[in-house]
Amino acid sequence: MRAESAPIVIGSAGRRLYLIDWFRTALEKVGLNSRIIIAENDPTSAAASYGDEMRLLPPYTDPTYTEELLRLVDDFEPKLFLSANDYELMQLHVDTNIAAGLRERGIFVPGVSPAWQKGCADKLHMSRMLEDIGVRTPMTVTGSEQDRLLDTVGSSGEFVVKHRFGSRSSGLAVVTANRLQDAIISSAKSVRRREGSTDTLDEVIVQPCAPGSEYGVDIVSSLVDEGSLSGVFARRKLRMRAGETDKAVTVDPAPFADAAAKIAHAAELSGLIDLDIFLDDAGAASVIDINPRFGGGYPFVHLAGADVPLYYLSQIFGIAIDASWRHYEYGVVAAKYQETRVTAHGQQSSDMTRDAVEVA
Ligand SMILES: Nc1ncnc2c1ncn2[C@@H]1O[C@H](COP(=O)(O)OP(=O)(O)O)[C@@H](O)[C@H]1O
Ligand SMILES: [Mg+2]
Repeated sequence: MRAESAPIVIGSAGRRLYLIDWFRTALEKVGLNSRIIIAENDPTSAAASYGDEMRLLPPYTDPTYTEELLRLVDDFEPKLFLSANDYELMQLHVDTNIAAGLRERGIFVPGVSPAWQKGCADKLHMSRMLEDIGVRTPMTVTGSEQDRLLDTVGSSGEFVVKHRFGSRSSGLAVVTANRLQDAIISSAKSVRRREGSTDTLDEVIVQPCAPGSEYGVDIVSSLVDEGSLSGVFARRKLRMRAGETDKAVTVDPAPFADAAAKIAHAAELSGLIDLDIFLDDAGAASVIDINPRFGGGYPFVHLAGADVPLYYLSQIFGIAIDASWRHYEYGVVAAKYQETRVTAHGQQSSDMTRDAVEVA
C-alpha cells in the first residue's frame, strides 16, 4: 500500500456523487492514496456516506460553522477544500473570508475573489461587473425600473423576469412588454425576503430575452496562478429540468474564449466556474449567469473526455500531467437520469420528519 497523501475535502456535494467518483478515479490515475472527506450538514444525504469519511458541519448560517470547519481542517489537514454549494461559498469567501485563512495554511480553496463571489449571487450587480470588464450581458434593471429598460431597448420582443438573488430558475417568466408589469409583480410575490430589503420589486430583475441558443460553459483557471485561464469547455443546452441542464451536446468552446479570459482574470479565478451564455447568429456571446463552482453541466464535458478533477490534483500535489485533461470530443450528447442509494439503516421514521417535510 502506498503511503497516504493529504486528504481532500468535498463540501456539500449533495446529489453530485459523480464528483466524488471522478476525484477518486483521478487519484488512482496519478497514483495517490488520499482519502476523500465529505463535509455535510445532512448525515443521510446521498453524498454523506459516499466518501471515505464524513464530517458533519452545522448549517452555514450557524455561528459555530466556522469553528467546526476549522476543527475539520485541524483534524484532517487536507490539501483541498472544494464546495459545491453557493451558500457555503458565500460563507467561505465573503461572510467570514475563511478561504483566505485556509489558503495561507496551504489549503487550496477554488473560487473567485470576494467581490465576484458576492456579484455571482446578485444578478443585477453581476451585469454591471460584466459590463465593466467588457463582457456582453443583457441590459439588466430591477422590477421597479422597467420603464427605463423599455425606453432603451424598445418594447418589441420578449423579456425575462427573474429573482435578483435567485437560483434554479426561481421567479422566472418570459413575457412580452404588455404582460411585463404583471410578471414582475407575480415574480416579486415568491421572492425570499432578504434582511434590509424594502421594496420587493427591487428583488426582481428584468432583461431583454437574449437572442440565439443557450450554452453552458465551464472555465478553469490554474489553482497556483490565480486568474490565468487553463481550460474552456462548452455544451449547447438541449433540455432543462428544475433549473438544471438535463440534456446537452458538447461543442467547440472557441466563441467563448474571450469572455472566459476576461472573467477569469477579473475574478481572480482559481479552479472551475460555470457560466450560462447565449450565442447569437452573428457569433456574439452574451453572459447571463455565473455559478462560481462545479455546476450541473460539468458532467457533459467530463463524459466527453475533459478531466478537471485530474487537473486539480496535478496542481495541488505538483504532479506533471499532459494537456489531455482539457481535450474533449465535440458533438457528444448526454442526458441525466436519477439514482437512489441507501444512506442509513435502523432509523426511526420520527427522526426523519425534517427531511420528509423538506422533500415535500
Ligand atoms: N436574458 C435572458 N434571455 C434568455 N433566457 C434567459 C435570460 N435570463 C434567463 N434566461 C433563462 O432562464 C434560465 C435561468 O436564468 P439564470 O439567469 O441562469 O438564473 P439561475 O440559473 O441562477 O436561476 C437560463 O438558463 C435561461 O434559460
Ligand atoms: Mg443559470
